[in-house]
Amino acid sequence: MKKLNVGIVGLGTVGGGTYTVLTRNAEEISRRIGVDVNVALVADKDLDRANELTNGKTTVTDDAFALVSSPDVDVVVELIGGYTIAKDVVLKAIENGKHVVTANKALIALHGNEIFAAATKAGVMVAYEAAVAGGIPIIKALREGLTANRHQWVAGILNGTTNYILTEMRDKGLAYQDVIGEAQRLGYAEADPTFDVEGIDAAHKLVIMSAIAFGMPLKFDEAYTEGITQIAQTDIQYAQTLGYSMKLLGITKRTDKGVELRVHPTLIPADQLVASVDGAMNAVAVQSDAVGPTLYYGAGAGAEPTASAVVADLVDVARLMGADESERPAALGYQVDQVQDIAVLPIEVVESAYYLRANATDQSAASADIEKVMAEYKIAIKQIVQKSASDLVILTDVTVEKNMDAAIAALEALPTITGKLVKLRMEALG
Ligand code: NDP
Ligand code: HSE
Repeated sequence: MKKLNVGIVGLGTVGGGTYTVLTRNAEEISRRIGVDVNVALVADKDLDRANELTNGKTTVTDDAFALVSSPDVDVVVELIGGYTIAKDVVLKAIENGKHVVTANKALIALHGNEIFAAATKAGVMVAYEAAVAGGIPIIKALREGLTANRHQWVAGILNGTTNYILTEMRDKGLAYQDVIGEAQRLGYAEADPTFDVEGIDAAHKLVIMSAIAFGMPLKFDEAYTEGITQIAQTDIQYAQTLGYSMKLLGITKRTDKGVELRVHPTLIPADQLVASVDGAMNAVAVQSDAVGPTLYYGAGAGAEPTASAVVADLVDVARLMGADESERPAALGYQVDQVQDIAVLPIEVVESAYYLRANATDQSAASADIEKVMAEYKIAIKQIVQKSASDLVILTDVTVEKNMDAAIAALEALPTITGKLVKLRMEALG
């Protein structure tokens, strides 16, 4: 039987899970593909951890660069994370003519254009299914299963850590600081959890999907990113009583003027399927012209769910290793010379409906003032609700963000309103 010799760099949460799944299911996998996927070498800074995991069955090193240069390795699995050493490891592996599998969305979102160009030059594959939405095969779906379609938008819950935190905040009434430690302990969070809670990790994933969905370059620097650190327990509860669910959503939409690329906390109607995606689960909804809406759901983080995607990439590499470049799917789904530099729209020109919370003691006077201001800015109010002695919640119809911001400034100047308004965007996902 043919053999694919794998070298894994980084044996933490995902690396450990990948080693376990590959060794446990080796027979099942080789029955499917007729290739023996063999872990030839592993590298981790912590040799004790590596030895404990491999239990004498695999050669272990603490030198990642020795692994990427080893003649015993056909494909390098980069599971270190970050974009310093990981980038050098990946580029060196490519230079050495090795295929690469990675779960590193930060690396792909920021340096993917350079990495894919190097891989094309070297005639090797760089596979990254695990980089977006953990175990959900969304890269495969967008890049292969949906190729017949022109996509209108892709939106989803793309970060397991923040979805877990928001779920715990809603169900247990906890503050986000009380839950983040548990998300880290469960292996969901990034090495720097700021990436999770500030929406950066979700933006990495969204940028990758926008490139594949619309045939544009990876434009992480132009993505709008807002996290969950400012979310108050009050707004999660109010949203729920009004029939909405609060989720950190990544949205990329094709419009006549350009592409929207934004991550922010979002209220979605509770009867939408995505609204019931809880804990560390992820979901990606895709709206396309031929098939219509499709929805992909599964574990977005964690050792074995992510390993499932890493191993699927190894299987693809095993199947396509002998193929000509033209027989392999393009790294970002479009032929390199067909990628179009579509403009990313600034958040100020994006259209959305809004949830606003205002602080007012004389609520009937404040409501009358709010109605007047909103009429001046031509913003339709769908609902004004008194939620407590001081809280007024206003749900608006769709308007342009800069118009909403101007209206909010006018509202904050009213004598009947105290302090700043809370502003959250709403999406129907219809
Ligand atoms: P971990 O921190 O758990 O694992 C990283 C491992 O790499 C650690 O064992 C680390 O050792 C080791 N390492 C660091 N530097 C080197 C080096 N120079 N040579 C060899 N080993 C090194 O991270 P995760 O497994 O959580 O994440 C790995 C990648 O997968 C990241 O890109 C992440 O974004 C991505 N990912 C993670 C998911 C998850 O659920 N955790 C899901 C999807 C993707 P030490 O601890 O001693 O530094
Ligand atoms: N930290 C990431 C998350 C890991 O919580 O979704 C999976 O990409």
